[in-house]
Amino acid sequence: MARINDHYLKLRASYLFSETGRRTREYQAAHPDAKLIRLGIGDVTRPLPEAVISAMHEAVDEMAKPETFRGYPPETGWDFLVDAIIRHDYGERGIKLTADEIVVSDGAKSDTGNIQEIFGPDCIVALSDPVYPAYLDVTVMGGRAGNADAGGRYDRIVYLPCTAENNFQPRIPDRPVDLIFLCYPNNPTGAVLTRVALKTWIDFARERGAVILYDAAYEAYIRDAAIPHSIYEIEGAREVAIEFRSFSKTAGFTGTRCAYTVVPKELQGRSAAGEPVSINALWVRRQSTKFNGVAYVIQRAAAATYTSEGRKQVTALVDYYMENARILREGLEAAGLTVYGARNAPYIWVKTSGRLSSWDFFDKLLHEAHVVGTPGAGFGPSGEGYFRLTAFGGRAATEEAVDRIKTRLAR
Ligand code: MLT
Repeated sequence: MARINDHYLKLRASYLFSETGRRTREYQAAHPDAKLIRLGIGDVTRPLPEAVISAMHEAVDEMAKPETFRGYPPETGWDFLVDAIIRHDYGERGIKLTADEIVVSDGAKSDTGNIQEIFGPDCIVALSDPVYPAYLDVTVMGGRAGNADAGGRYDRIVYLPCTAENNFQPRIPDRPVDLIFLCYPNNPTGAVLTRVALKTWIDFARERGAVILYDAAYEAYIRDAAIPHSIYEIEGAREVAIEFRSFSKTAGFTGTRCAYTVVPKELQGRSAAGEPVSINALWVRRQSTKFNGVAYVIQRAAAATYTSEGRKQVTALVDYYMENARILREGLEAAGLTVYGARNAPYIWVKTSGRLSSWDFFDKLLHEAHVVGTPGAGFGPSGEGYFRLTAFGGRAATEEAVDRIKTRLAR
């Protein structure tokens, strides 16, 4: 029998969204008439923008003719997409990047997971708590987490608690760390980091030789003009940070799959002998070996989000979800619940009522209001006592969910 990777045996039994999905399916099977409203996993519900659809159709037609057919894409992405990313996502914010610092991929989830592979197995990982569960699980899979205690905390991970008491702002670690996952706007709490707070992290990383893995998948949801959209807006970030971006939550690509990762040329790791090593070169090496690129049709679709029509349509999509966020926030506050987030992020982080645990609150909401959310404890121990709802539902479903929570939970 082949020896398996023991680290996989240290994972909790199932991925958070698999578990909430399982409980939801079981409830639906037992109550086929229940009209469930799903505000659990952050999956978008609006169709792709018109500009994206037209670009896809055109690209499909190109693939049908010998003279315009394309095979393998360039390893790090087609120029037309990379140039648009550099010009719009960064150039317009005064950030200069070069084409070889962008690597187009199929998702921020896979990139934030795979990136760990190019770092040593003994690297110490810092994670906010609560955290997007994929960061934790990939740390466990890569053997960097150590062993879990009875409460599910791994002994080699440096947890950075984020609760109402510290305004959901992680504290700088009090011990050395090598890799720091930061996700802003935050999934799950909806919190944001100010420029000053982000600068503190960059200074810390520079001082300690740590690398910040900055997941900016939700940057399009920032409403407050003072909040940075990219970590590279802050001085010094190019030396210490990798940034992950995605078309999933901005342009509705959760099922279409396109994202990119920025690895600046200045960013260096070190070899066992202490020699500096280019992280950009290693990431490109990893991707060109293990990933064959994003389909031409999909990259054309992503590039269409930067045309003037595409940009208007993407803005309208984000506005639509942010209006849902407002409806949820104001509705739940009116129902007497304490809520956070949802101002610069598509997630609303709710304090569970009546001292219910977050899984009990999940069950109560599912059984009594037929609304599916995500229990805060599933994002980490500091998520206990909280519950997450997403703004990615349809408008009518979001309004109905608020009504049901008001009437059925308040009973
Ligand atoms: C979430 O619900 O946290 C997201 O959908 C996860 C993801 O983007 O993979």
